[in-house]
Amino acid sequence: MKTKETLYTLFFSPTHTSQTIAQAVADGLGIKHEVSINLTYHTPKEDIHIDGGWAVIAVPVYGGRISETAVERLSFIHAKNTRAILCVLYGNRDYEDALIELSDLTQKQGFIPISGGAFIGEHSYSRKNKEIASGRPDTQDINMAYRFGKISGEYIKNWGNKIPKLIVKGNVPYKVKGTQIPQAPITLYDICSQCGHCINICPTHAINNKIESSPEFCIKCCACVKECPNEARIFETPFTDWLYKNCSIPKKIEMFFCGKYKADNQPLPFYHPEDVL
Ligand SMILES: Cc1cc2nc3c(=O)[nH]c(=O)nc-3n(C[C@H](O)[C@H](O)[C@H](O)COP(=O)(O)O)c2cc1C
Ligand code: SF4
Ligand code: SF4
Repeated sequence: MKTKETLYTLFFSPTHTSQTIAQAVADGLGIKHEVSINLTYHTPKEDIHIDGGWAVIAVPVYGGRISETAVERLSFIHAKNTRAILCVLYGNRDYEDALIELSDLTQKQGFIPISGGAFIGEHSYSRKNKEIASGRPDTQDINMAYRFGKISGEYIKNWGNKIPKLIVKGNVPYKVKGTQIPQAPITLYDICSQCGHCINICPTHAINNKIESSPEFCIKCCACVKECPNEARIFETPFTDWLYKNCSIPKKIEMFFCGKYKADNQPLPFYHPEDVL
């Protein structure tokens, strides 16, 4: 009996932009039997093995690289003969070496990368009076992600079992991360209703029952800031002003497909997935 082809949707997504794009790409790919692996809230207790099928993998860009928590959690996923569509989400500054890092990591974990896209999501540090890529991914982004998934599935049929290499934008060695200053949001206790929502959605369990956060464990994802129903979580960073001033022009989604690159193995970005066919 032929087993059903499975699509694994894998994501780490504290503020849900990576999750939204992962779902749109998965919908476009159109494989009915879908298994969702949400790596946002917990580190897997043990290794997870995937055999065959497809995967859509989406993670956020932190400091021009992929989020360290995402790297740690993705390392538990091992694949064999699984074709993968890779997505990084960045807040309209730059994605630098994140997509190449995701491509390298997923290959190391046994996936076969077919295509990779750099999508734009509302910046974690976007605030009401200083919006940075606010509302993205928007309807157009989601539509593009859907088409990216659909075309990736169609495009690969041309290659049979011989999948060529995927070349994406980015440098090796990767960008060196800046020094991390331990910091975490504060709670405005006079308006906090002690509902506990922030405790439940913190990806690194950095908030205790007294709604105090541990700067040691906080990854500054701002999920608690964005999701607090009373706006009682505050994270102030000079990056908000800088990004607001310097990163307001909307960036374009860039997509890369295996077997499509410029001379000298230079990456070839596509701005409409249909152009690859
Ligand atoms: C610690 C940190 C570092 C970030 N670094 C970058 C960056 O280098 N470039 C960029 O454009 N956006 C950066 N962002 C913004 C996120 O990549 C963006 O908001 C993304 O959509 C978040 O994904 P999520 O909604 O799946 O959590 C950073 C966000 C955080 C919290
Ligand atoms: S989500 Fe907001 S209101 Fe609820 S416990 Fe956390 S800080 Fe308080
Ligand atoms: S405490 Fe830190 S890690 Fe936890 S949700 Fe808030 S910003 Fe993210």
